[in-house]
Amino acid sequence: MNLISIADLSAEGILEVLDRADELKERRGDPAFRSVLAGKSLAAIFEKPSTRTRVSLEVAMTDLGGHALYLSGKDLQLGRGETIPDTARVLSRFVHGIAARVRSHSTIVELGRHSAVPVINALSDLEHPCQILADLMTMRERFGRLSGLKVAWVGDGNNVCNSTILASALMGMEMRVASPPGYGPNRKILDLAESLGGGVAVVADPAEAVCGAEVVSTDTWISMGDEAEAAERLAAFGPYQVNSDLLAHAKPEAIVMHCLPAHRGQEITDEVMDGPSSAILDQSENRLHSVKAVLEWLLV
Ligand code: CP
Ligand code: NVA
Repeated sequence: MNLISIADLSAEGILEVLDRADELKERRGDPAFRSVLAGKSLAAIFEKPSTRTRVSLEVAMTDLGGHALYLSGKDLQLGRGETIPDTARVLSRFVHGIAARVRSHSTIVELGRHSAVPVINALSDLEHPCQILADLMTMRERFGRLSGLKVAWVGDGNNVCNSTILASALMGMEMRVASPPGYGPNRKILDLAESLGGGVAVVADPAEAVCGAEVVSTDTWISMGDEAEAAERLAAFGPYQVNSDLLAHAKPEAIVMHCLPAHRGQEITDEVMDGPSSAILDQSENRLHSVKAVLEWLLV
């Protein structure tokens, strides 16, 4: 098994991971967990920067009694042209799992194809499944359910949006996406969501997406790899800022989510990010608990 797309898990599989993540959070520090991954190693390859994903993977492995190796893409022989299949085959002889943050989704797919050990997508340009498990955990903590939750995504139809769309389809959530023309979610992801039983409404007006929402989520307008388009993106995304005026269209009990890192004053204001509706720090913390459940599922 791999976790390359959030759709690699069924709805039941997601709920099992979330139940275990809740338990790991509740009983954090319980000595019983220190042997869960005893003797196990994880190769964590990063072709792009990371704070939360890297730290959550490393701390999760340590807390569960295992060991993570941080491998920068440019320091590996991969950076000098060693092939992805050879890298996958060799690492499989050393470690029990491979996590990789990659520039191109095709890299993680190829790693998965040639690895004899489970492969975890630590973010690609197409998806970010580890993030979405933490997001689902946070939504369930706040609302006690996922099914039927009204989720609005405002801004770029990016990797995090794509995984949220698939998760919404799997978990029976109602999702609306508001993006500027040309920056909507990936067509294949929308089709896959449809085939999983959950249609997603894609609209242009952010207020329409947020109207009656229980969860309002956003992310940077300039993802890693999009830097060359920064000027045109900043011009296109202006009306898609999550601010107090926009949030006024959501339900009073709505929570605001952001996977971080945030560009304060661009996609989200300080007022919203630090305000009473923000679930962002819990969401960030839940990266640790949820990835522990993923590592246990895949490496034990
Ligand atoms: N949310 C997230 O994946 O953060 P990092 O880029 O810091 O890992
Ligand atoms: N969409 C962002 C997420 C960062 C965690 C990016 O890919 O840069």
